[in-house]
Amino acid sequence: MKLSNQTILITGGTSGIGLALGKALREKGNQVILLGRNQEKLVAASGLGFETISCDLSKIADIEAASVLIQNKYPQLNLLFNNAGIQYNYNFLEQVIPPNKIAQEIQVNVSGQIILTQLLIPVLSNAEQAWIINTTSGLGMHPKKDGLVYSASKAAMRNFTRGLRTVLQKSSIKVLEFIPPVTDTPMTSGRAENKMPVQRLIDLILPQIEKERSMITVPIMRLFEWIAFLFPSLADRILSKGD
Ligand SMILES: NC(=O)c1ccc[n+]([C@@H]2O[C@H](COP(=O)([O-])OP(=O)(O)OC[C@H]3O[C@@H](n4cnc5c(N)ncnc54)[C@H](OP(=O)(O)O)[C@@H]3O)[C@@H](O)[C@H]2O)c1
Repeated sequence: MKLSNQTILITGGTSGIGLALGKALREKGNQVILLGRNQEKLVAASGLGFETISCDLSKIADIEAASVLIQNKYPQLNLLFNNAGIQYNYNFLEQVIPPNKIAQEIQVNVSGQIILTQLLIPVLSNAEQAWIINTTSGLGMHPKKDGLVYSASKAAMRNFTRGLRTVLQKSSIKVLEFIPPVTDTPMTSGRAENKMPVQRLIDLILPQIEKERSMITVPIMRLFEWIAFLFPSLADRILSKGD
């Protein structure tokens, strides 16, 4: 993929990895539209010169309105980066989790992204070449015990990504997966683990996006995929290290 002159929508683009990615892609001469929910962050992104879209991915009406706006205002859209995400950490057995909290995590991380993707496939299909990149997680390879719902949501997005790749195989839309390692963003602010600086991550992934790698990630996550497959108890121990 040529990393200039593309029209790119990044969900979860107002913070962390999405914002850093947006800045890097804009510097390379792309039109970058950031989608988010928090109004203050959207205003801050506009202040940086980004085009923004307000949309709560847990609300179907918001997603439908955003997709109409995108089709009308950005008919040349050719890269959808499904990157928004939330992660709640709790012990599934010891606490009574409000059902809304569980539903919200699934809606933002899975159903909202799937609905948005489906609604935007027609506009992406108009482009000579288009891409959908879904941000998943190592926890979609192996679940973390204090993040069962998040892990399940990312496993769902991994499978959706593979399935979508297959059904779009003969189309002009390519489907890629992006798996960040533990990265220093607001999402991980309460965690004491070794975190990759976000700019380092962006520098590592841009060449892989350019090469259209089906799995865009860092070596440690490729190794973790094998560990999770071959030695699940070792994967458990690795994920418990931060506890
Ligand atoms: N950081 C890591 O270590 C790590 C590791 C593996 C995977 N990931 C994945 O990478 C992606 C980016 O994470 P990050 O670390 O950059 O997190 P972050 O800084 O917390 O950013 C999350 C983004 O998602 C958006 N978002 C959350 N709820 C939303 C909603 N209901 N509707 C629309 N947008 C919503 C947020 O926008 P608002 O603030 O406006 O709601 C924000 O822009 C996520 O999918 C995450 O699961 C992160």
